[in-house]
Order: sequence, then structure tokens, then C-alpha cells
Amino acid sequence: MSIRAQTLARILLAGAFALAVVPAAAQTRPGPAQTVTARSHMVVAANPLAVRAGDEILRAGGSAVDAAVAVQMVLGLTEPQSSGIGGGAFMLHFTAGEGALVAYDGRETAPAAATPDLFLKPDGTPLTFYDAVIGGRSVGTPGTVRLMAEAHRVHGRLPWARLFEPAIRLAREGFAVSPRLAALIAADQPRLSQHPSTRAYFFTPDGLPLPAGTMLRNPDYAATLAAIAERGADAFYIGEIAADIVRAVREHASNPGRLSVEDLAGYRVAVREPVCGSYRGHEVCGMGPPSSGGLTVLQILGMVEHFNMGGLDPGAADAAHLLAEAGRLAFADRAVYMADQDAVPVPVRGLIDTSYLTLRAQQIDLDRAIERPRPGNPPWRDARLWGADNSLEFPSTSHVSIVDRDGNIVSMTTTIEDAFGARMMVRGFLLNNELTDFAFAPMDNGRPVANAVAPGKRPRSSMAPTIVFDREGEPTIVIGSPGGARIIGYVAKALVGLIDWRLDPGAVVSQPHVLTLGRTVELEEGTPAAALEAPLRARGHTVQVRELNSGLGVIVRRDGRLHGAADPRREGIVLGD
Ligand code: GLY
Repeated sequence: MSIRAQTLARILLAGAFALAVVPAAAQTRPGPAQTVTARSHMVVAANPLAVRAGDEILRAGGSAVDAAVAVQMVLGLTEPQSSGIGGGAFMLHFTAGEGALVAYDGRETAPAAATPDLFLKPDGTPLTFYDAVIGGRSVGTPGTVRLMAEAHRVHGRLPWARLFEPAIRLAREGFAVSPRLAALIAADQPRLSQHPSTRAYFFTPDGLPLPAGTMLRNPDYAATLAAIAERGADAFYIGEIAADIVRAVREHASNPGRLSVEDLAGYRVAVREPVCGSYRGHEVCGMGPPSSGGLTVLQILGMVEHFNMGGLDPGAADAAHLLAEAGRLAFADRAVYMADQDAVPVPVRGLIDTSYLTLRAQQIDLDRAIERPRPGNPPWRDARLWGADNSLEFPSTSHVSIVDRDGNIVSMTTTIEDAFGARMMVRGFLLNNELTDFAFAPMDNGRPVANAVAPGKRPRSSMAPTIVFDREGEPTIVIGSPGGARIIGYVAKALVGLIDWRLDPGAVVSQPHVLTLGRTVELEEGTPAAALEAPLRARGHTVQVRELNSGLGVIVRRDGRLHGAADPRREGIVLGD
């Protein structure tokens, strides 16, 4: 065992995580998150009813994938603003025994009829974000149902139909609108009330946003799920449900889209190799292109590995400065190199090459922010002529971490993109606006943009479902978060918290956030991080103090037990046994 591994083992054995065994305990809000410990299985997700569904399936002998299907179907009902069967997802799956890790890509695709000017006005300038989002134009072919079916075909244990029972039950009997859902409906009222389908579902007959605690039934969603449960994913992709999706998209009164029944019938899940890199003796594996999540997290870690993060105070300006600088350099590369690798060449290996990241890290000065971080020249650089992509991503999305009793693992991040997606419902579920994750402008200063719209292409994502392995190849950390492009900073800092600062999962999800999307350094308002504004400005950073609404879901395996926590900023819980 190396010195690093021995040190880590000593830290772990010394009980750096102060934990009590709380079988089937649930974390409550508000305040710092508790770490929940279990012996056999664990599920963490952003909604208590969804977590209960996953726990029910695991207790019934289901696999991690079985539980993930049940969780996803309930999330689409109780946290509809974030994810659902009208959207897409990425799932990392680890098969215990075989030691096999695979990445399932259920990302939405652009319609075959999409063209690079999809989000340009007639004068050639880009549409505003919400002019693009609301309506049919932004809707990509949903991938979540095919992803669930494909993962279940390979890794499922319980019958497919059984996995839909909790969600169908809740949709028929009703569930209480949560405070977070109620607040988001109210905040989005001007947009969400435009379309008759969302107006009828999310508002009272008098047009008021549904208050928290309202018992909401969704018989249309129950019927959709019953059809998928009975006839499989084809019930969604071929036939009446698909026809209704296409009709809603194409017949939107003011902003129609180009989706066709052929797009739906032809949708395929891509099974990919995860992208992996080493960090202080751990192997960190994430989702590669079309997500920028795995590569950008690995770039940040690969740069801060050159500094003694473990020796720094997690709350002090030095640590914040290093994470910010690594983040700013990584986002400079992300803007030009990362997109759907099936459509454009992406220098995947070069971007996380250790020599390349050493060169990038050498640009970091402890005392002074880099004035304007520029993209580097990674080896295997097939993409040097790309222009920069300045596309926006907004913080909807949801993350699910699951370990089953056999040690199989799911780390899945799932989304309909912006909160409430395209603001249109079909048969009880919301349609995504994932196509606005493409660059709106296909050219930048005369150069083509890698993440431009193209037929059948998958828009660049930031989702970063992650699994970390120790030196012996044992999976030790399962993690991910919602938050648009901020996912990258949330996950990277949480990994530094777990590995360098030896925080337990509850402490790590409760850490004040410090992150960047490339230029400005963002500090979480109302937390001690806000006090870093002056010292970071003194080093030359542009700083913004703002709400940072992560939704981290973490499971750590140590000493033969599972230790988990859900981000206290959202409504998630942990259940285990
Ligand atoms: N739409 C959020 C993401 O894919 O990162």
C-alpha cells in the first residue's frame, strides 16, 4: 500500500467520520445535513416520496437500477420541475462482483429536422433564453424512458411493471405539493400559466399557484405510467403517447418545434465508457461527452492536486482561490472543446492528460487571479478551430445515488433542463427544453462552435454523476448534484471535501459553496463563504455573492457501512438499512 493509501486508511480507521448507525433514518431540514449510516443498502434523492419508493423496491429485493426506475417515476410526479419521463438522464452503473463500470447516455437528441439556426432570429441574432425555451422549439427527443428500460434489461431484478407501482399509486391517490414545488410554481407563474396544460395542473381554478400541502392527483401521469409498465418503453416511443408529444411540440401556437414521430421511434440510448482520472490515489469516474461534467470535474481536480489542499483551511481564501482558478481554467477549455463526441471530435484523453493538467496548473499563482484564462492546447487536440460556446444552463435537474444490498451502484443525474422545462404538459408529464443547452449562435468570431445545433446531436450537458474508487478498485464514493453548469463546481469541491478535508457526507453537502462558471467567482450568500469577497477581490477576482442552490446526494462506503447525506438546500432525504 502506498504512503498516500496508508495515510488515507489510517484516517478512515481513526474514525474521521463520527457516525452513529441509524437504520432507515431520514435526514430532516433545515440546518446542516446529518450523515445517515446503514449496513446493506441506501438511496438518496431530492424528494422524500421518491426516496421511499426506492427504499421500498430495495427492500423487496430490487437492484440499484430497479430502485432508480422507481425513484425516477416518482420524481416525475412530485418534483416535476426538475426531471421526468419528458426529459433525459445520464446513469453511471457499477456492477459488484464483475467490477464493471458503464455509463448510460439517455440524453435528449435534436430532431432530424433541426438546423444550426434553430435559436436565431430572422436577423441572425440569438433569441433571448425564454423566447427559445417556452414552447415546442426547445424540446428534444426524450431519453429517460429508453434509458430506464435499457438499464433494467441489463441490470434489473424485479419485474419492470413492479417498479411503477409506487408512482402510479401516488399519482392516483395524490401527493402533497412540497414547499419547494409550491415556491417554484409561484415564482414561475407568468411563464407556467401561459400554456393551458400547465395552467390547469399547477394552478387553482381561480388561477392561483397551488400552495404547499395541496393534495395533487395526476391521473394522466398514472395512465401514461401504466401503459409503459404494461408494454415497455415502446408504449412511450411508438404510438399514441409519441403522437401526442409531437402534436404538442409542432402545434404550439407561438413557438412550434420540429420533433417528429420518427425522432421518437428512432431514439437510442448510447452505452459509453465513463471518463476516469486519478486524484490523490483515488480513481474518479464520471460522465464523458456529451456531458462536460466528468471532464471538467477531472480537470479541476487534476489542477488542484498540485497544491496541498489537505493542509488548507476549507473555509479560507487560499482554498477558495485555488478552486476558483482551477475552475476558471477548466471552464475556458469546456467552452471550446466539449460537445457531443458522436457529432464533433472532442479531445477527451488530452483534456485530462496529467502532463497537460500540470502545465495548466502552473498558470495558477497563489497571490493573483489570472486576468483572462484562455483555453489550452491539449494533446490529441482535434478541435483547435472551435469558437467559444456561451450557452446558458439553468439550475433545474435532480440527482439520485443508490447502493443495493449486493453492492451494485447507480449514480444518476436526470433533467428536463430549466425549471418546468418547455412549460408544456402532455399526458401528465412536462416536456424538456434540453435543446437550449446547445449554443444559440453556431459561429463565434468566424469559427464554428462545437456545441452548435445539428440533427440528431445531443446538447452539451454539465451533469456529473460520479463514482470514486480506492486503490484496490473498491467503489467508495457515489455523488452528483443538480445545478446546471454549477454542478461542476459543486461536485469538484465536494470531492475535495471528502478526500482532502476528510469531511463526512453530512458536512460535505453542507459546506458553503465557492465556485465559478469561468469568469466571476461565486460565493454562497448567507454563509461564511460570503466573507471571502474582500480577500478574493484583493487577489484580482471579480466576485458575486449569491444564492447557490445545489442538491448534492452523497453515499460513502467505509468500514463495510454506507454513510449518506442529502443536500439541506433542497428537500432530499436518505433512507437505508
Ligand atoms: N440541462 C442541465 C444539464 O444538462 O447540465
